[in-house]
Amino acid sequence: MTASDDATPVGPTPDSSSFSEPKTERAPGGQWAVSESAPPAIDVRSLTKRFGENEAVKGVSFQVARGEVFAFLGPNGAGKTTTIRMLCTLSRPTSGSATIDGFDVFRQPTAVRRRIGLVFQEPTLDEQLTAEENLRFHAVLYRVPHHEVEERIDRVLRLVDLQDRRKDLVSTFSGGMARRLEIARGMLHTPAVLFLDEPTIGLDPQTRALMWEDVLRLRSEEGVTIFLTTHYMDEAEYADRIAIIDNGSIVALDSPDELKKMVGSDTVELSTADNKLAGSNLEQAGYKVSVGEESVVAFVKNGEEQVTAIISTAGVPITSVRVHRPNLDDVFLHFTGREIRESHADRSFPMHFRSFRR
Ligand SMILES: Nc1ncnc2c1ncn2[C@@H]1O[C@H](COP(=O)(O)OP(=O)(O)O)[C@@H](O)[C@H]1O
Ligand SMILES: [Mg+2]
Repeated sequence: MTASDDATPVGPTPDSSSFSEPKTERAPGGQWAVSESAPPAIDVRSLTKRFGENEAVKGVSFQVARGEVFAFLGPNGAGKTTTIRMLCTLSRPTSGSATIDGFDVFRQPTAVRRRIGLVFQEPTLDEQLTAEENLRFHAVLYRVPHHEVEERIDRVLRLVDLQDRRKDLVSTFSGGMARRLEIARGMLHTPAVLFLDEPTIGLDPQTRALMWEDVLRLRSEEGVTIFLTTHYMDEAEYADRIAIIDNGSIVALDSPDELKKMVGSDTVELSTADNKLAGSNLEQAGYKVSVGEESVVAFVKNGEEQVTAIISTAGVPITSVRVHRPNLDDVFLHFTGREIRESHADRSFPMHFRSFRR
């Protein structure tokens, strides 16, 4: 098959006329299920990329459901950008296969390009043009039908809250605004899947939080599936599922909550009038506890749900309560044996991004 038979999807037939309608359903327990009637938004099988001796991506496999926000979390050099480049038809894999919205990334690249939006790790806007001119240029490149261009420009600018800056030169934009405009541009041709490579790199925490509001709004209002990469633990939390990628391999893949549960139990720590008595009362009731001088700690599955029961079972006056759930830092350490900070140096910031106007 050649790129010219792009119109025919492989695998189950996608309903291309309605790809803005997410076919995904949340199964009980909050898991994302892929509907049987439609192909997954992204389906990757044993994808490998070798650069000479260096195997940058080592046979990764995963599926992303329609309407899902899916994150690749990993340190610098893990293979995140290399994977995105293959899925966006910009780089040929050494082996393996992938489909986007049912279309084969390597055999039907034109059909795939029509269905994806891409925001690169490095900024690619023309600073000498206005926001609107950047979008118009993209509309031409992506052949957005003439009669739809006006409405789409309005809509995507509204989605990222930049409608007031429409006529302004991009050179006057802050780093965060420029990034949001790139996201708007990636959405202009109504893609089924939006790829965001480190969308928040180099931005301050407040701007990063705003960007996330935009991303979640795109999903709810446009039904777009979002695949993004990050090395920020705290923001991976916003994703429905996270694949932790290290040295070219996926070492864990699940929802943030499930990943944390794999790492260990929650703890409920009580300081009480009589820790010994509280400890023995809890133990008799079947709790696993550790009694110390200052406090008594109960190890439970879901600390927040059980805290009231634990307090009443302790049976003595309580002076303080602390619930701790393992965080993604604990998760990364658990699966890779390192902290993400150790493996991630500042060199991951592209030089021109560092000097990019703030
Ligand atoms: N064009 C290339 N030529 C040779 N090696 C590359 C190329 N692109 C990436 N690599 C190597 O592949 C590995 C993964 O890189 P990359 O996908 O950029 O990681 P990440 O995006 O997770 O930081 C690194 O070891 C990097 O040096
Ligand atoms: Mg990268």
